[in-house]
Amino acid sequence: MASSKSPIQGVGSGGDPQELVLRGPHTFRVHTRAYSDPAIFDLEMERIFGRTWVYVGHESEIPQPGNYKTAHIGLQPVIVARDDKGGINVFYNRCRHRGSVVCREPRGFANNFRCPYHGWIYGKDGRLLGVSMRDGYPSDFQQPEGLQKVPCVDSYRGLIFARAVAEGPSLVEQLGLAATWIDRRVNMSPVGEIELVAEPYVVEYRGNWKFMIENIIDEYHFAFVHEPFNKLQERYGDSTGDYGAHVSGSAKDMNQRRQAGRLSWGGVGGHGLGERRVSDEQLDSLLAGEDGDYYQGLLEKYRREELARMVGGGSVMTHPNVGMIHRQIRVVRPLAVDRTEVTIYPYELKGAPEADNQGWLRSQERFYGPAGYGMPDDVEMFALNQQGLAAQAVDWLILERGLDREQVTENGDRFAPVGGETPLRALWVEWLKLMSRAD
Ligand code: FES
Ligand SMILES: [Fe+2]
Repeated sequence: MASSKSPIQGVGSGGDPQELVLRGPHTFRVHTRAYSDPAIFDLEMERIFGRTWVYVGHESEIPQPGNYKTAHIGLQPVIVARDDKGGINVFYNRCRHRGSVVCREPRGFANNFRCPYHGWIYGKDGRLLGVSMRDGYPSDFQQPEGLQKVPCVDSYRGLIFARAVAEGPSLVEQLGLAATWIDRRVNMSPVGEIELVAEPYVVEYRGNWKFMIENIIDEYHFAFVHEPFNKLQERYGDSTGDYGAHVSGSAKDMNQRRQAGRLSWGGVGGHGLGERRVSDEQLDSLLAGEDGDYYQGLLEKYRREELARMVGGGSVMTHPNVGMIHRQIRVVRPLAVDRTEVTIYPYELKGAPEADNQGWLRSQERFYGPAGYGMPDDVEMFALNQQGLAAQAVDWLILERGLDREQVTENGDRFAPVGGETPLRALWVEWLKLMSRAD
């Protein structure tokens, strides 16, 4: 009897990441263990999150000296803080005494940080300012200098990244083409700045972290996972409060609109973009519409073609842990091989019409919020995805959609008509590169 197994099955039982991604002219498959093996997850924390630029926050969250926020680099807790000179420092959120988290709040203002356990005090710049009941220590006590600093901190257009190792490419080098995509979003502000002003929305799911970052640039799922939302749109249209995140019409219209003028990009460095361009008619109607001055101002700064792409938006996934979707920054935090936390930070365009910023905020609440029509469906899908992988008699996941339609730029970035899995494959190519580096 013929075996039901594919001839490409049969990965070794060792932990070599090279064995977990199969690539060929007509093949692109990822092994189950890349999503479900705790040893692989540990290696990801070391070789991906431990060595690359990881998003930790936005400058507008810490505008003044004393403002701070807490974040994570992989599993490691950090504090992102503005010092008295206006500089941004990132410290490990771990007391030098006996290791407690020093700062428990997601964000705030503090003249200094006092450890909740035994009261050691650290300054905004991380220096240890005081050891409580100091006289109980030996006279020659070797006092640590302060919180341990993360060696590399840099920001791009207000997005702050940190890297746990000193050596490596610059942030701009790591971002590659993703920098252009971030520019497009931030340049929608007349002054070129975005602000995170609304409260974030946090959700946890029982699935691997890569399901979320793949989903950011996965156009394929929309008609299926979001079918209930599409039906609501079809029936009630924009009267349910949509501002632009998802434009209504029949399910067929919506799907056509989602495909029109769109490309899927997979960038060197593992970044992905679902590029979208508004039509000339749509752009003309915006230029002549209620917010015409705002769009005219942008047209004076950017070429018409560029503006059509800026307005079109499209989801950006910046490897390894941050996305820009609609008017939000989405941060993915791995907790365990099968547990992930996602935080959605809505942002506003500084200087854009108030109604535009408010409309987008309401629109996103409607789709992504706790009672929204979209995000809960995605999150359920990630858990189902993880549950399905427990059937290990089937080894491989297939990511071959659009493989034969890809084109490659001279820089090595790839693109294909929207709906293919080009951005997902770029992510896995980078995963393989980083995971294979033993040094
Ligand atoms: S653990 Fe921080 S003061 Fe003791
Ligand atoms: Fe979705």
